[in-house]
Amino acid sequence: MTKTAALLLGSTRASGWTRKLGRALALLAPPDLEVREIVVADLPLYHEELEPREPPEWARFRAEMRAVDALLFVTPEYNRSIPAMLKNAIDIGSSPEEHSVWSGKPAAVASFSPGMLGGFGANHHLRQALVFLDVPVLQQPEIYLSQIDRLFDEEERLRDGPGKELLVTFMQAFDSWIALGG
Ligand SMILES: Cc1cc2nc3c(=O)[nH]c(=O)nc-3n(C[C@H](O)[C@H](O)[C@H](O)COP(=O)(O)O)c2cc1C
Repeated sequence: MTKTAALLLGSTRASGWTRKLGRALALLAPPDLEVREIVVADLPLYHEELEPREPPEWARFRAEMRAVDALLFVTPEYNRSIPAMLKNAIDIGSSPEEHSVWSGKPAAVASFSPGMLGGFGANHHLRQALVFLDVPVLQQPEIYLSQIDRLFDEEERLRDGPGKELLVTFMQAFDSWIALGG
């Protein structure tokens, strides 16, 4: 049976690396796994006082998130943490607590950087929130991609080599993780 994973991006810049990496991972997914982006860029900033008149963007996001089986986070690091846009989506999805869209959904996290650190800080800040939200996160392989530009060719395709092989293994492991229920 086909499973669906939400692709949640930490940056949605049209020509950004996050989008390129997200697209590449979606293409590497095994045939029984559909990876589809769920938009987080238009979500009004979370504020509890807005709950009684739920903004339509929040309602759209929450409904789309409830319909997926799993979560694939792809994020850069902003100041050693996750971009505010992604944290905002997490907060919106977590509320109200009894209707959290996150609980029990198997997840995987891929972080990257143009520099050398691979977004390790962002990756683990994200994992910290996911522990609290009862999201079982794939442990291995861990994905911290440094020097992200080296992974892609001029046509924005993944170059053959160890980086691509790691990402193939990652998507296979994610698929098995979802099948197990996380
Ligand atoms: C506000 C801001 C903070 C950043 N902080 C970090 C950081 O802490 N560590 C890091 O490796 N890169 C940092 N960067 C660089 C981003 O990783 C880089 O711009 C990345 O390509 C953003 O993803 P995008 O290309 O999809 O937009 C930062 C960028 C911005 C705009």
